[in-house]
Amino acid sequence: MSDPYFQKLFAERIGGANYGKDDAIYKFEKIKRAKRKALADHPERGLLDFGIGENDEMAPESVRRVMDAEIDKPENRGYADNGVADFKEAAARFMRREFGVALDAASQVNHCIGSKPAYAMLPACFINPGDVTLMTTPGYPVAGTHTRYYGGEVHNLPLTKENDFLPDLDSIPADVLGRAKLLVLCFPNSPTGKTATSEFYAKAVAFAKANDIVIVNDAAHAMISFDQEPTSFLSTPGAMDVGVEVHSMSKGFDMIGWRMGWVCGHERIVSAFADVKDNSDSGQFIAVQKAAAAALDDPEIPRQIREKYRRRMEKLVDTLQQCGFECEMPGGTYFLYTPSPKGVEGGPTFDSAEAASQFLITEHSICTVPWDDAGAFLRFSVTYVAADEPAEDAIMAETAERLSDLQLVF
Ligand SMILES: Cc1ncc(COP(=O)(O)O)c(C=O)c1O
Repeated sequence: MSDPYFQKLFAERIGGANYGKDDAIYKFEKIKRAKRKALADHPERGLLDFGIGENDEMAPESVRRVMDAEIDKPENRGYADNGVADFKEAAARFMRREFGVALDAASQVNHCIGSKPAYAMLPACFINPGDVTLMTTPGYPVAGTHTRYYGGEVHNLPLTKENDFLPDLDSIPADVLGRAKLLVLCFPNSPTGKTATSEFYAKAVAFAKANDIVIVNDAAHAMISFDQEPTSFLSTPGAMDVGVEVHSMSKGFDMIGWRMGWVCGHERIVSAFADVKDNSDSGQFIAVQKAAAAALDDPEIPRQIREKYRRRMEKLVDTLQQCGFECEMPGGTYFLYTPSPKGVEGGPTFDSAEAASQFLITEHSICTVPWDDAGAFLRFSVTYVAADEPAEDAIMAETAERLSDLQLVF
C-alpha cells in the first residue's frame, strides 16, 4: 500500500513519518496470537489461561438493578461534566469507612471514566518539556507514556527482590531529582503484588516534601489486599499535602467495563485534574455514576471479591510450589509474580521470561504474562473462568499435572 499524503504529518510522539510501519509485535499481541495457535493446534488440550488481566465475573446483581432503574430516569440523560454529587459523596463515604480518610466530597474528589484516563491527564497538569516523572518498573505505563507526549522524561525505579519490591528513592541521581515533578506509585502493586508498609509511605511523603515532588498513588487494586487490611496512601500523615490517590471501580467491584474511578486528595491537584478532564471528556453517564455510588456503599461487595481471589491465590501458590516455583502468597492483587523457569530438564533453556512464557503456551497450552523489565518473572492471574470451587480445583489439578510432567529448572 502506498503512503497516504498525510504520512509525513504524524507526530513524532507516535512515530512520526514511520507511524504504522513498525512491524514489531508487542507482548500482549504475541500472547494473543500464541493462544489462538495453541487452541487451533491442540483443540483436545484445554487452555489453562492465567494470562487474563481482568475480573472474571460481571458486576453484582444489586449494582445492575440500580443501573436498570437509573437508566430510565430523564434527569440522568445529559452531559455529566466533572461528575455528580451522589458519586463524589459516596466515594468520600467509602474513603472514610474503609481507610479513615476524611475528604471534602465537593473539592477533594473528582470522578474519571475509569482510572486509565486519569494517568493520561495528570501529567498534563504538571509536565513541561524536560520535566521528569519517576515511575516504578515493571508497572502500569500510561502516566509515563503521557509524560513523554508532553516532552517530559521518565526515570525508572526497578522493583527487585533485593529491594523487597519497593522503589529505592535514594538511588535517583541529583540531576534527575532536580527535574522530577511526579512520583507514580502503585499499591497493592501490579504486577509484583507487593503491598506498601506504613514506613514506606512515610518515607515517600518525606521524600516528596524534601524534593518538591507530587505523588500519584495508583490504588486500582486497593481492595484486593491479603497480607493487611486494605489501606490508603492518604491515611499517611502529611500525604494529603503532597499528592493524590487514584481509585478504580474495576478490580475491587467487578466493574471493569463500566469505566468508573476517582481522583482524590489535595484540593488544588484535584482541581487541576478536573480542569484538564473538563477539556478532554464530558463525564461518565450519570446512571453509571449512581450505580457505582450504590456499589461503594455496600462493603460486602469488595470483601467477597477479595475472599474469592484470596482462595484462588492460595490454591495457585500451593500448586506452583509443588511444581518447583519459588513463590509465596502476594501481599495483594489477583496477580502472582514469580521467578521464571530457566528451562526444562533435558529440554530447551529460556533466556527470558518471554521465552518461557512462549514455551508454556505453545507446547503446553498454559498462558502466562512474561515480565523482563527487572529480572525474568512470570505473572499468573487468578481471574481464570471457573464456575465454582470444584471447577477451580479441577483447573489446579490439571495445572499441577502439566507442570510437573515438564520438570522445570529454576
Ligand atoms: C495497576 C493498574 N492501574 C490502573 C489500571 C486501570 O484500571 P481502570 O482504567 O479499569 O480503572 C489497571 C488496569 O489494568 C492497573 O492494572
